[in-house]
Amino acid sequence: DKIYVGVDLGGTSIKVGLCDITGKLLHTYEGPTGTEHGADVVLENIAQYVRKLVADTSYDWDQVAGIGAGIAGFMDIPTGFMKLSANLGWRDVPVKAILEEKLGKTVRIDNDANVAALGEAWAGAGRGIPNVVCYTLGTGVGGGIIINNRIIQGNGMAGELGHMNLIPDLEAIQCGCGMTGCLETVSSATGIIRMAKEAVERGEHTSLALIENITAKDVFDAAKSGDEVAHRIINRAALYLGKSMAMIAVVLNPQRFIVGGGVSNAGDILFDAIRKYFDQFAVATAKEGVDIVPAILGNDAGVVGAAGLNLHS
Ligand code: BGC
Ligand code: NA
Ligand code: ZN
Repeated sequence: DKIYVGVDLGGTSIKVGLCDITGKLLHTYEGPTGTEHGADVVLENIAQYVRKLVADTSYDWDQVAGIGAGIAGFMDIPTGFMKLSANLGWRDVPVKAILEEKLGKTVRIDNDANVAALGEAWAGAGRGIPNVVCYTLGTGVGGGIIINNRIIQGNGMAGELGHMNLIPDLEAIQCGCGMTGCLETVSSATGIIRMAKEAVERGEHTSLALIENITAKDVFDAAKSGDEVAHRIINRAALYLGKSMAMIAVVLNPQRFIVGGGVSNAGDILFDAIRKYFDQFAVATAKEGVDIVPAILGNDAGVVGAAGLNLHS
């Protein structure tokens, strides 16, 4: 049998997984990224984890029919050349060429969120729906656009939804990409934490003032227990997400929006607000029959989608 390997490169860990031809995850392995040691070490770690993953199973290396990897940052997808990854601190890294040399096989590279979107579309919340747009809310805001079951690459970097310039100038702050006013500055975990800290510093009346190292989950928990300040922060994150979806609805008109990443674990409190704003800003015909749902593959979306790059692109 043929098997497919997927790699999900995250800030703190690298997850690798083996899938069969249906997208069923057969085996996974996870190890440290080693980001602080630079791109060469990270890519060597990937190669070692992939070999270990296969060696740990009864499959052999010859059965690996495809390897794919999802990596955060602005890249030229067809050539697998990373132009800028603010979160990894990489600039101009020929990721595909380096991994192919190390592994001796063709490796498909794509953006981490594109790959997660493909995973959800193939085997998760978008199964059977040809056109879906996915958001991954974590350290950054990632995006992936699937049209007719395929990832949209555009001129090489399509799907960077987190860098849609949506925040009004007077409220805009700097983003890791160099611009100001990106969606990511408000709707990522990082953005939510920043807004919470700012509210505390301003001396606003909130239970968050009692927390030492505020996390996005703290903000959601506080909002759920009635904290007005926390609620306002979540609302703001949801406002721009909902607005961005309203815009995408008239441009691409997907059947479904899927929202994943750590922040999406917040559940109804976040989703109700996103749906409210989507409804408020989307033109009637464009939002007809469109729904906004949570991702279902959780941490596996990346590896499953990366393995799927070899079957769906
Ligand atoms: C990066 C994207 C990435 C996203 C999620 C953003 O800051 O620009 O490439 O997909 O974070 O990791
Ligand atoms: Na993307
Ligand atoms: Zn940006």
